[in-house]
Formats: sequence, C-alpha cells, structure tokens
Amino acid sequence: MPNDVTVRKDSPVPREAGAPSVRIDGVDVRFRSKKRDVTALREVSVDVAMGEFVAIVGPSGCGKSTLLKLVAGLLAPSRGEVRLQGERVSGPRHDIGYVFQRAALLEWRSARRNILLQAEMRKMPAQQARARACELVAMTGLEGFEDAYPHELSGGMQQRVALCRALLHQPPVLLMDEPFGALDALTREQMNIELHRIWRETGTTILLVTHSIAEAVYLADRVVVMSPRPGTITEIIDVGLPARRDYAETMGRDEFRDATTHIRGLLGTAAAGD
Ligand SMILES: Nc1ncnc2c1ncn2[C@@H]1O[C@H](COP(=O)(O)OP(=O)(O)OP(=O)(O)O)[C@@H](O)[C@H]1O
Ligand SMILES: [Mg+2]
Repeated sequence: MPNDVTVRKDSPVPREAGAPSVRIDGVDVRFRSKKRDVTALREVSVDVAMGEFVAIVGPSGCGKSTLLKLVAGLLAPSRGEVRLQGERVSGPRHDIGYVFQRAALLEWRSARRNILLQAEMRKMPAQQARARACELVAMTGLEGFEDAYPHELSGGMQQRVALCRALLHQPPVLLMDEPFGALDALTREQMNIELHRIWRETGTTILLVTHSIAEAVYLADRVVVMSPRPGTITEIIDVGLPARRDYAETMGRDEFRDATTHIRGLLGTAAAGD
C-alpha cells in the first residue's frame, strides 16, 4: 500500500472556493525521550474543505489523536505545517471546539453551567452566551435537564452537554476524538443521527476520530484511513452518499456497503472494530 497517498483524484471539489478550513501539509510527528523515539505520524497531508465532515479511522496508536492535537495547536509538528482557516497553527487555537471520548464535565456544575464554562473561559458576553446555550440545548434535545448535574444524566446526555459546550462559541471547526466510544450501541446510533443533523444545521467543519467504520461512513463526506504506526494516510475514501441521510435507509445503500467493505479490507479484519 502506498504511504504517500494524500487525496484521491476522485475526491470531491471543496464546497467553497478559497483556503480549505484545515490544511495538513507534509506533517511528521516524532516524540523523543531518553527511553523512546516514536514516529507517530509520517508525511501526512490532507485538506478539509469549509463545512466538510471528515472521519479518521486507523489502528490504535497510529496517531489519530495526535493529528487532532496538531490541528488544535496543542502539539507542534516535527516537520510540515498545519493551517486552520488559512492561518498557520503555531499555538493553542481558540477557533475550534474539542469533544473527547469522556464528556469531562464538572460534577458540581449543572448541565447549563457546564455548557457556559466555555463562555466564562472565553469571556463571552453573558447574555449572548446564555442565548446560544438555550439554542444548543434545544438542538441536542436536552430541554428540561438544564439544571441537572452530570451524575443525574445518562452517558448520551453527558456527551450532548459536552457537544453543546464545544459548540457554544460557534467554532468554524469541531474536533471530535472518539466521542461516542463509551456509549451503548443504541445510544451511539441516536447520537450519530443527531450529530449528522447538527452538522447540517451549523455548517461546521468536523474532523471525527472513530473506531467504528459504520459511524465513519454514515457521518462523513470522506473517510481518511490510516496505517499502523508510523501513521500515514493509506487512502481517502469519498463515501458518495447524499448529504441528507436517513440512518436505516443509508445502512441499506450500496454506497454504504461498498465503502464499509473497502475500509474493512484496508484495515484488515483484525483492526475492523465493528
Ligand atoms: N505526548 C506523547 N509523548 C510521547 N509519545 C506519545 C505522546 N502522545 C502520543 N504518543 C505516541 O504516539 C503514538 C500515537 O498516539 P495517538 O494517541 O495519536 O494514537 P491514536 O491513533 O489516537 O490511538 P488510539 O486509537 O488508541 O486512541 C503512540 O505510539 C503514542 O504512544
Ligand atoms: Mg486516540
């Protein structure tokens, strides 16, 4: 398998002209310590268009989380560069939202106050933040639970709160690192449907790391398949599904079956997580 494939020739044309939302260009990441020298990523290049949904799949330890951290400016590449909204990333970026596998909510704060934490950290005008929080609570179906504390919420509801918190400041780019990995299968399906709708409604560019091939294909415009460490891009698959996707109908479509089978083949059966 070639290591240096960046974007397939048949990848879709970016939806908007101009700079891509995220540009990852010839990136290597090496972690050096006295004990170890690990090359986590090698020669990784991918452009993500404004408003595009890109999923990233690959074996454990191939550098998926590392890739998201580069985009967020939490890590610097050893070689190459990352651009966000046309600007070179050289430190932590505030124009992103980040959702992790665990919701990481503050137990002593209500759902609403967990969401508003984002506004406090960014010193957003209080009224504007409260109005946006209300919109997001409605969008994610959390109405009636604004005053509940994290221990009073289900796992899916906690992830919804984390999603609201990540979207409060209306970031143009949302990074999601296995956000639904800890949820049961049915809740995960429901969250997939909701995330797809929220993505369509907000127009946010999304980079989602997942171990679920089905989740990647259902949600994304394109799926980046990575090789084992050092992580390189094996292939970028254009899933070719319509933007508006009914869950059950999508699962039965030829494009869905073809894409999942192809990705499973690229990853090898041992790595195919679902
Ligand atoms: N801060 C760090 N210092 C040293 N090594 C690191 C650091 N962060 C990641 N690594 C190494 O880089 C490699 C890639 O890690 P990363 O967390 O990006 O993998 P991943 O694809 O997200 O894996 P998983 O699917 O298990 O979450 C691993 O070998 C890991 O040990
Ligand atoms: Mg990871």
